[in-house]
Formats: sequence, structure tokens, C-alpha cells
Amino acid sequence: MYEIPVTLTSNPKKKPEDESKLGFGKIFTDHMFIMDYELGRGWYDARVVPYAPFVMDPACTVFHYAQEIFEGMKCYRRKDGGLQLFRPRDNFARMNRSAERMGMPAIDVEQALAGLLALIKADADWVPSAPGTSLYIRPTMISTDVMLGVHASHTYRFFIICSPSGAYYPKGLAPVGIYVEPELVRAVKGGVGFTKTGGNYAASILAGDIAEKKGYEQVLWLDGKENKYIEEVGSMNMFFKFKDALVTPPLLGSILGGITRDSIIKLARHMGVPVDERRITVEDVFEAAEKGELEEAFGSGTAAVVSPVGRLAWKEREITISGGQIGSLTQKFYDTLTGIQFGELEDPFGWVLRVDD
Ligand code: COI
Repeated sequence: MYEIPVTLTSNPKKKPEDESKLGFGKIFTDHMFIMDYELGRGWYDARVVPYAPFVMDPACTVFHYAQEIFEGMKCYRRKDGGLQLFRPRDNFARMNRSAERMGMPAIDVEQALAGLLALIKADADWVPSAPGTSLYIRPTMISTDVMLGVHASHTYRFFIICSPSGAYYPKGLAPVGIYVEPELVRAVKGGVGFTKTGGNYAASILAGDIAEKKGYEQVLWLDGKENKYIEEVGSMNMFFKFKDALVTPPLLGSILGGITRDSIIKLARHMGVPVDERRITVEDVFEAAEKGELEEAFGSGTAAVVSPVGRLAWKEREITISGGQIGSLTQKFYDTLTGIQFGELEDPFGWVLRVDD
């Protein structure tokens, strides 16, 4: 197995006093995991070191051409004080799919996991225990060649940082308002929409700003070709509960294959709820809502967990879903998923990895 050298900080930071006010991704722990890559040599020097800024040349390719990918995962504190991760190998495997598309080197999933476990052990006291909180984990890979030619870099850095966090949306588990972007597009088939690369998120910032100014929390993207099929909300995959089935857009290359999305599909099938992965137009959703056939809508993601959607706006139209309340199936998915993640419910899927085992 992988031995990861650990250098502990001699200057630990003060931990947050009030865990109910953590917010999302604002505070960082005492340590980070790093390993470096060079073409011909592979990944080397895997280590846990004190959290600190990087010193980087301004000509580094990542600053110019954004050859960058990341992941989002969480470490949960159980009631007995122990810690556990949720499907971590699936996140690292997805990172390798992003890496391939972005011309970046693959990581060894077991080495990355060994690094993460060493980091979590060094920062174990940072994993919060207040209800709804967890340690958000951000594995990231950046290109580090110093040059301005548009080519794959020959050197990379992979690092993992951690942030004790509360709910992604400031209101916690409460219905959010979503604005269907009528014009701008996020991704097209053949592009990088299925990867977790920073550029996908950068491209969403303007639309997010417009949506916020109109009073909505997030943007729902439509397909980049016909501008009518539901794709995703940058930070979450979407689910719609119609009378006969739970429907979510299929993975056709332009949306992220969410680990939480996959977990919800498996949970739904386990509960006997029919799931249909199919293309669905925004017009279908609005029509169903107007006919009383749309029962619930929610988003899924590591950060967002399961987030009920209470309002959906598209052009001049707006619908209210589940009377603006949390739908019963949405609540059930939230309770079951978080129950498994926090070790309060049995995990029949083998998703949980206990850090202390
Ligand atoms: C996650 O859910 O972990 C994500 O990466 C979404 C993020 C942009 C907050």
C-alpha cells in the first residue's frame, strides 16, 4: 500500500467556534495533500503538508488556458464520533474521466485515496459535528508548465484541500428558486460539459449573476443545440417527479455524471420508484406543472445534497412546484441519503468507507 509522509503544522489555526455558521467553502483546515507529476516520471512526492499558498510562475499554463479539473466530496462525522467518506473511489475515477478529456494524466485511485485518508487523519479534529455539517473535500489538478504555447503541459500538481462546511444554499434544506437560462449555453455534445473543469463553472458565472439579480438562486441550463432540453444546474443534476416516474436527463456528454445523481437513481430503484433517464424539454415540465402532473422537482450534488426546487422561471412564465414546499419524495431521498452518509442508516450499497477501519 501507499505510505504517505505527513508533516504536521507547528502553527495550528483556531477552529470555528460556532459550527452553525460555517457557510460553504470559506474556512480551510491545517493541512493539504500534494503530489506532483512530470512526463516520463509519473506522479511523485506524494505528501501531506501544512496548508499554505503555492508560489507559482505567472506564465503557468493553468492561468492562461485553464487546464484544470476538480472534484467535490465530503467526510461525515457519525454520532459515535467516527468519520466516514461516501463513494470516494467513484470521485477519483470520475476525475480520471475528466483528466482524459482535458489531456491531463490519470491519477492512481488507490494512491489518491491513501493521500486523502492521511489528510483526513491529520485534520480529523476539523470534521464538524453540528447537524447538516461535514468536511467538504476538494481534490484538484492543475497544469504547471511555464509557457504560453497551447499544448498539454508536461508537469502537473494534484492537491486536496478541505473545508468544514454547512449547507451549500444559505437557507439550508429549503426550496430554491431556479431561473431557466433562455439564451446562454453551458456545454454542447463533444465539448467538456461532462468534466469537472473550472471553465464550465466560469462560463456559468454571468448567467448566475443575472439569475440572482432576478431573485433566483441558480441557473438551469438547456441544451446547447436546440435550446429546449433540460440539462443541469451547474452545481446539481436535476430530477422531476411526474405522476408515473422520476425523470432525470441522460448522460449524453454535456452534463456531469453526478455521484449523488447516480446514488439517487439507485436509491429510487431500491425503493420501488420508477426512474426514467430521458431527455425532457422545459416545455414538457411547464405543461406538466400547469396540468397538475408535476409533483416535485429537486437537484442533487455533493455540495447541494438534495435540494428541493420550489419555483422555476422560464422566459415570461413561472411555476410553483409542490406548493413551494419540500415534496415528500424529495424529503425521503434527503433523509435516506444523509442517513447513509452519516452512518445512521444501513448502507446496502457498500457506498460508505469508514476512515477509522
Ligand atoms: C460539488 O457539489 O461538490 C460541486 O463541485 C459543485 C460546486 C461547484 C459547489
